[in-house]
Amino acid sequence: MNAPRIIVALDFSGAKPALELVAKLDPQLCRMKVGKELFTAAGPQLLEQLMNKGFEVFLDLKFHDIPNTVAGACKVAASLGVWMVNVHALGGRKMLSAAREALLPGTTQLIAVTLLTSMGRDDLADIGLNDEPEIIVQRLARLASACGLDGVVCSALETARLRQIMGKDFCLVTPGIRPLDSSVGDQQRVATPRQAIANGADYLVIGRPITQAADPLLMLQRLHVEIETQLAAG
Ligand code: C5P
Repeated sequence: MNAPRIIVALDFSGAKPALELVAKLDPQLCRMKVGKELFTAAGPQLLEQLMNKGFEVFLDLKFHDIPNTVAGACKVAASLGVWMVNVHALGGRKMLSAAREALLPGTTQLIAVTLLTSMGRDDLADIGLNDEPEIIVQRLARLASACGLDGVVCSALETARLRQIMGKDFCLVTPGIRPLDSSVGDQQRVATPRQAIANGADYLVIGRPITQAADPLLMLQRLHVEIETQLAAG
């Protein structure tokens, strides 16, 4: 069995509903993403519970602080045993390098968020960023790579261009995934699992299409097959 490409976004406000959902899923088919809401509610104990059930964990806390503080946070995250952790590329070169030095390559995967997809051109102009968003994303991805990070989070629409620019070994983690027949919700720029993989994504972050499905395991199995079929097709 290939390593699972699906990362289920556990966007819950507490451990109980998260673990109820997790009990229905299969660690052979997916990993888990724990973000700020769930981690604030349930902490490292929940990470341990997920890992004890056999799931690898992406700790999505998007660290952004002075280099020393981010390095310390990354070190502690790695000591908890998480598979992947992330930082904001906007923290700059010194912060990214400090995060890299805190995590030995080949241990916990270290990736960067480039621009938040919630920020449009006007929001970026408000904080003095006047280039086109895609240009800024590419610049930040290059910076992350130059600092030795393993990859970036990017929207499905940015994936193809970043794969071209960054080469085959740079890890691309893509949210905003929607199966053909599922509701788009508040996501604006979506792709199907098949499209995202064809565009070069390594991992797909999928939340509501799985967490809100009538049968979450069935949906997970269906998406897994779609991804494996696309990978086999090249
Ligand atoms: O439910 P849904 O599939 O939209 O969840 C997507 C997950 O990916 C959420 O946890 C969301 O915070 C995260 N995410 C995103 N867009 C980004 C970065 C992260 O949707 N640009």
